[in-house]
Amino acid sequence: MADLKWWQTAVFYQIYPRSFADGNGDGIGDFIGINERLDYLADLGIGALWLSPHFPSPQFDVGYDISDYTDVDPEYGTLDDFKRFLDGAHQRGMRVILDLVLNHTSHLHQWFVESRSSRDHPKRDWYIWRDGKDGGPPNNWYSPFGGSAWEYDPATNQYYYHFFLKEQPDLNWRNPEVKKAMWDAVRFWLDLGVDGYRLDAIGTIFENPAMPDQRSNMTEEELRSTFKRGFPDRPDKKLIELWELIYKDQVEQEGVHQLMQELRGVIDEYPDRVLVGENDDVSYYGDGTNELHMAFNFPLMRTNRLTPEWIRTNQHNRLASLPPGAWPCNTLNNHDASRLHNRYGDGQHDDAIARTSLALMLTLRGTPFLYNGEEIGMSDYQLTDIGLFRDPPAVWFHDGQVADGVLPDEALELAAGYTRDRCRTPMQWNSAANAGFSPEGVRTWLPINPNYAAGVNVDDQQYNPESMLSFYKRMLRVRKQTPALINGAYTPLHETAQDYFAFLRQNAEQTCLVILNLSNKSHDLKFDLTSRDARCLFSTHMPEGQTVTLEALKIVPFEIFVGELIS
Ligand code: GLC
Repeated sequence: MADLKWWQTAVFYQIYPRSFADGNGDGIGDFIGINERLDYLADLGIGALWLSPHFPSPQFDVGYDISDYTDVDPEYGTLDDFKRFLDGAHQRGMRVILDLVLNHTSHLHQWFVESRSSRDHPKRDWYIWRDGKDGGPPNNWYSPFGGSAWEYDPATNQYYYHFFLKEQPDLNWRNPEVKKAMWDAVRFWLDLGVDGYRLDAIGTIFENPAMPDQRSNMTEEELRSTFKRGFPDRPDKKLIELWELIYKDQVEQEGVHQLMQELRGVIDEYPDRVLVGENDDVSYYGDGTNELHMAFNFPLMRTNRLTPEWIRTNQHNRLASLPPGAWPCNTLNNHDASRLHNRYGDGQHDDAIARTSLALMLTLRGTPFLYNGEEIGMSDYQLTDIGLFRDPPAVWFHDGQVADGVLPDEALELAAGYTRDRCRTPMQWNSAANAGFSPEGVRTWLPINPNYAAGVNVDDQQYNPESMLSFYKRMLRVRKQTPALINGAYTPLHETAQDYFAFLRQNAEQTCLVILNLSNKSHDLKFDLTSRDARCLFSTHMPEGQTVTLEALKIVPFEIFVGELIS
């Protein structure tokens, strides 16, 4: 274990700052609130925090539209509050990585304000400006957040390019001044002691410079209707192929790996920092030493059912595709995706399924990334009023549906199911009004999920040994105490089993058998291994420390079993 880096042993926890804890009582999360909850996170057993953007922002995309890369949004506090947060986390043994949005800035960033001020401004070329064609935009490219990827700017009679919202103009990374300015911002936080970055949307940094029209022949209306099928969060293969066709020249273009390697060089000026890419392509690992330290295994989460076969196939493909020396990284959700209860649940065993999902994250080979609120079993919230939506693509989808003639109620329901707001509602701390997130009577930035009053909150679960929260703590503790779960090799067992996923994690000192029963059926299992017996390290149904024989091991519905082989 001694040869592992902190980011290989830690469990990461994503804090979505706007929704984590409201310290000043204005309905919006902030650093005062986060700082008050650091003990909670340390007690949970978290080793590292990933903070979604906390920088000044007009919040069109909840902070992913940054107007100043080297400060703190006043809604969240001051730079001093941030420093207290960083010190407080470090004092408790938790590392901190920030969200780095390279592809675009806010349209209100000073760089863009200057860039759009005139065609001759020295910063004009910091963004992507083109003349229109035949009275319209330069080409027919779309933004996945709705409509054309070009916005007309009457002041200078040109269009600027935005892969995401029109309030998120794309930077021109072929301009060396952009790189220099951004690397300065990167160093600013590293100098303060930040431990690394999660890199936002790196696949969209470069475009094909020839900018050819896309050839999908899709109208905007047709594009919108594909959202109904849940893009991009759902496992629809056809839709993924269609997406690849539409955005072919807007994503994964030449230059991005060289840029990431340069960024790695910047990070490596500092000891022991980490980069994790919001991209599943293993090419971002470079040769295993020279690009990103980790890239998310998103293919694992792109299903509505985590079956043993799905997981085994994923692990087989993923682990085999990593370059030598590369370290895997798993996640099942984040601020863009449905919560575990809703995504993988079957409506009957949602709680048990959420538990096996956590167990999967903590026992697979690789660093786990968990999302705030999952530890108390928070679920998606279905908004009932379009006026409450905060996620612009969902509003675009809704308004377009209504314009296309869909009945308002139906459009609202579809949009509420699709909007990323569903998983971004405030953290539920207790059973008081506003779930203890904000004081009673304060209007929170997104509504609170009413299930806080039915036990889905921290306080009610804290001292209940059966609760989801207690389960999280126990599993995190077992992972920490079991080196093979961190650095052990992965070997699947019983590879045709349909109901349960069994595998070994093995290092020089220890072999662990993990069984996740992903079904509501019991099974009598027989394992033909070098040892006859195992000592239970964790089970949802059996006391820790109990010895079991591997020749006749009974597992009950949704059992999670981790045992150490006795030699
Ligand atoms: C990433 C973020 C998402 C954001 C987008 C544009 O995908 O996770 O929340 O909207 O980038 O910045």
